Amino acid sequence: MQSAKRIEQEARAKAGNVSDEELALIRKAEETHRLSEAELTQLLGSDAAEEALAAAADRVRHRYVGDGVHLRGLIEFSSICRQNCMYCGLRRDNKKAERYRLDADTIVELARKAKGYGYPTVVLQSGEDLFFDTDRLCAVIRRIKAFDLAITLSIGERSREEYAAFREAGADRYLLRIETTDEPLYERMDPGMSWSNRDRCLRDLRELGYEVGTGTLVGLPGQTIPMIARDILYYQKMDADMIGVGPFIPNPDTPIGGEPGGDFHLTRRLVSLLRLLLPEANIPATTAMETMVAMGREIVLSSGANVVMPNVTEGDYRRKYALYPGKICVADTPADCRHCMGGRIAAMGRFVAEDKGFRHHRGAAERNIEEGARA
Ligand code: 5AD
Ligand code: SF4
Ligand code: FES
Repeated sequence: MQSAKRIEQEARAKAGNVSDEELALIRKAEETHRLSEAELTQLLGSDAAEEALAAAADRVRHRYVGDGVHLRGLIEFSSICRQNCMYCGLRRDNKKAERYRLDADTIVELARKAKGYGYPTVVLQSGEDLFFDTDRLCAVIRRIKAFDLAITLSIGERSREEYAAFREAGADRYLLRIETTDEPLYERMDPGMSWSNRDRCLRDLRELGYEVGTGTLVGLPGQTIPMIARDILYYQKMDADMIGVGPFIPNPDTPIGGEPGGDFHLTRRLVSLLRLLLPEANIPATTAMETMVAMGREIVLSSGANVVMPNVTEGDYRRKYALYPGKICVADTPADCRHCMGGRIAAMGRFVAEDKGFRHHRGAAERNIEEGARA
């Protein structure tokens, strides 16, 4: 793991070389929230532009979504998965993965405790575990809604009918990373899955009235910077409410465990460009960023992000929910993580937001003025 100081020193040393052309692009992004694929590719690939990008993204973050950091309590309720993603430790062919499934009472109890820690939202995350059919999961959702919590689901691909049932039961948001918008790469990395079905899921979720979160896995073998630029334009086009991105961390228990991992700096520039192009979106500082660099979440929170998802899973289940090695907080309790993040956010001069943290929508009037100005 690298230290935050070293990361900052490296980035500052390179910042001296940023060209006037790149500074002009960053200014354009900050003012218009628009860049072309070629312009995004140039900035994503520029080490020299990283600090200026982060500073612009931090200003836009402050202006559009404020200084509050939204905490979402993450409940990892099942490590059983029917899929076989090449990068993930929970893939069905990984015989070394330790599988568990929490029962409904335990999940509800974790949500009740999350409420007690002051989290206004819980994220129910699992592998693609079909044991949780609509009846079982809707019952859990209804019981958790009684605590007046916002509920985010992150359980993978389901039918439109199932998504409709979860929404009806009270689910507010859904996280489903597209991982990559490059269809052939997606289908190589997620054998047996289709890119068009994933895209269909995202469109169904949006039409059903969920706040929709998606994102990129950075550094997949064969992924290029122009592909990542196109990911950003895809998120802009679908008007994503949330975008969570993180570096690929090779897992030795998977077929691509020997490949190089994703780059922290490239992922940081991606976060900054996401903030510049989708100024109102909720953007988390992800756990994978901190797995690569100590204080990685602070760095990302200062580079455009405004959300953190502390773990509220208890005991040994944290360790068993192993997408990649080196996961942080596996020996910590939910209370540890709550205090840890509260202190760290305050130390940055930010504050823990107390509302449910739905996506900020500018008023229609404001949007009209802007559209009028553009016309
Ligand atoms: N490294 C980093 N992120 C991973 N994910 C799965 N496996 C890995 C890995 N090895 C991410 C995927 C998935 C999310 C739940 O975790 O992007 O959507
Ligand atoms: Fe299963 Fe999700 Fe891991 Fe793919 S990324 S193997 S769907 S848990
Ligand atoms: Fe878990 Fe810091 S967030 S201990």
